[in-house]
Amino acid sequence: MKVLRKAFKEQLSDVVTEFVASAKADQAIVEADINGSLAHVEMLKKSGLVTPAQADNLKSGLNTLKDQYEKGTFILEAQYEDVHMNVESKLGELIGADAKLLHTARSRNDQVALDMRLFILDKTAEMEKLIADLQEALITTAEANIGVVMPGYTHLQRAQPLLFAHIMHSYVEMFGRDKGRFADSSKRTGISPLGAGALVGSGLPIMPDVTAAALELSSVFGNSVDAVSDRDFIAEFLFASSLTSVHLSQLAETLVIWCTKEFGFIQFPDDLTTTSSLMPQKKNPDPMELVRGKTGAIVGELVNVLITLKGLPVGYNRDLQETKPGAIKVADELSACLKVMTLAIQGMQVVSEKTLQAASDPELFATDLVEYLVVKGVAFRAAHEAVASVVQHARDSKISLQAVPIVDYKKHAAEFEESVYEVFNAVNSANAKTSPGGTATTRVTSALIKAKS
Ligand code: ARG
Repeated sequence: MKVLRKAFKEQLSDVVTEFVASAKADQAIVEADINGSLAHVEMLKKSGLVTPAQADNLKSGLNTLKDQYEKGTFILEAQYEDVHMNVESKLGELIGADAKLLHTARSRNDQVALDMRLFILDKTAEMEKLIADLQEALITTAEANIGVVMPGYTHLQRAQPLLFAHIMHSYVEMFGRDKGRFADSSKRTGISPLGAGALVGSGLPIMPDVTAAALELSSVFGNSVDAVSDRDFIAEFLFASSLTSVHLSQLAETLVIWCTKEFGFIQFPDDLTTTSSLMPQKKNPDPMELVRGKTGAIVGELVNVLITLKGLPVGYNRDLQETKPGAIKVADELSACLKVMTLAIQGMQVVSEKTLQAASDPELFATDLVEYLVVKGVAFRAAHEAVASVVQHARDSKISLQAVPIVDYKKHAAEFEESVYEVFNAVNSANAKTSPGGTATTRVTSALIKAKS
């Protein structure tokens, strides 16, 4: 970079110029940078550091650059190192000498911290919106399939019947917490670092609160060293993104399993599946596999930032530049994953005959048999043991639990009566789970109503 090097005898080599530049990643924060500068100019005017006419000139130049950026004609050049010096150099070409006033009482250190805070705030709001869209799709699909019963799994082994809608609602809850994490982190991200300078503040009469207000940020930094050196807000964004991505990956994996021939619980429409270059019959859930597959890179960027931060001595260090590309990449990838998952939830068809058939597997009612005995006064552990013996007897005799004659049931617990066979009904079994947060239709319906509000 030729600018800023009056104190140097030699210029940077091309290799080093490219190496230190962040122009490529910074293309994503041009708008944030210009908005930050517009607020800074407003503050310089209020504090008398530039005249109203100079402020107008600076603002019109910055707005021209913003137009160029929106039209795609403002491309950052590595020779100016980063977005900040690109803007300042281009501004000079546009408005002349007044451009030299722009950086008054400011450093690229507080500037880049601000840019990233504005960028992350914007992306945080985007994630909150996309998560809300996904939750809405989950609720709609749950309501449309409220009568669907399926096996619930633990250890991926059939456990107890439940409502398909209950599983959809479980993801509504998970994504609700993710949305909450994004919302909560934005309180800490929305703090303006502008006015911290390189690290000690300024001897000029600046008013950081004016800049913060112009940017609609809720508060101003409390310590100038901290303001320029920490990127905890990026780590928080990446953590919220990582956990959202992990939840998306779990949902994707669940759907991948459900759409197999072996399970057959759901079908994806053609526009959510891809095929094979060799096997013409293949209908593969690649979008879901990619949602699962992108999680590693997203979590990787969180680890990258934490490790970048861990070894830094106090103050701004150039390593911090390396926290930008990951955050930008994660924002793009997570946004795409959320959109694709919403389409998948909206588009999938539930095969209720298959789910009911699977949920009617007699062994799924073993726990209901235990509860049947408990209601008749048998102690839980004794009831558990009695039913376990019936299960073993049925397995040994190669018959289903439902086909075990009442005389044999009675051999294991005298409290068994003819009514025991009424237990083997998947819908009734699910609907009996009326405890708070349980899978009974009444509970799930009111949980969905609550989720909607
Ligand atoms: N490009 C830098 C970054 O992204 C901006 C700050 C550079 N500051 C400096 N003193 N070299 O972090």
